[in-house]
Parts: sequence; C-alpha cells; structure tokens
Amino acid sequence: MALRKIVEVGDDVLRKKCRPVPEVTDRIRELIDDMFETLYDAQGVGLAAPQVGVMRRLFVVDLQDGSGQKVLINPEIVEEKGEEDGEEGCLSIPNRVGRVTRPAYVRIKGLDRNGEPVEYEAEGLLARAFCHEYDHLDGILYADKAVEMWAVE
Ligand code: NI
Repeated sequence: MALRKIVEVGDDVLRKKCRPVPEVTDRIRELIDDMFETLYDAQGVGLAAPQVGVMRRLFVVDLQDGSGQKVLINPEIVEEKGEEDGEEGCLSIPNRVGRVTRPAYVRIKGLDRNGEPVEYEAEGLLARAFCHEYDHLDGILYADKAVEMWAVE
C-alpha cells in the first residue's frame, strides 16, 4: 500500500467526468487499498478516485465510527428521498467547510472490491458522504452546491 497525493481545488482533474471501471482487477484493488490508506492519513470520511488523479468511477467511504469500509465501483444512485441540511468538507478543499442540502436518504448500487454487486441504503452522514463522493465522479465539488462556506483551522 502507498499514500497517494490528494489533488486540490484548482486542478482540472477535479472538474472532469470520470469513465467507468471496465474490470475490477488487482490493480483496481491496489488503488482501493491506497485510497483507504490516504483517507485515514488525511482523517477524512470519503475519497473519490479523481481526488488521487485517477479518472475512473469509484470511491471509498469510511465514517470511522465502526460502521466499516465501503467501496463503490461504477456507482448509481437509484433512489433519493427527502432533504437534509448539513456541514460538509472535502479533502481537496483544505481548511474550509460549507453548508449543503443533500437527500436525507439514498439507495446506491455498484460493485464492491471483488467486482460483486453491492447495494447500500443510507441516511444522514452516510447518505451525505455517498452523494458528495458520487458528485466527484462527475467533476462536481460541494463548493458548487454550498449555500455558505467558511474557514476552519
Ligand atoms: Ni470531496
């Protein structure tokens, strides 16, 4: 495993639409391992492949509350319900947070690290993390949707 460099806002890489992962290979699994290592090192809760310069549709999430690692390859949000206002940050936008409205509930489908179909139902922070990371795959940053942003230490 290795730490990857996190791309920061201003880099065009964060503004591109990512392509699907054609096949879940050992190389993809190595990328996933590196992304988790990078996520923990940066003390984040989610990281999308374009944030480490890989233009493929995959992301990892770990709320670090004991709920475990979640990997979504070629994800699709198949259902959304409600709205919830909350604070959000992004490892690619250091030292800032903002307020963003997200669905209160989402159902998301994709492939796991073994290339097997996986589906999650999520509410609250997990739903927020899925939506935030999903947006990265389409070149969208939370800053585009935030009604307010402010600096943090
Ligand atoms: Ni982000």
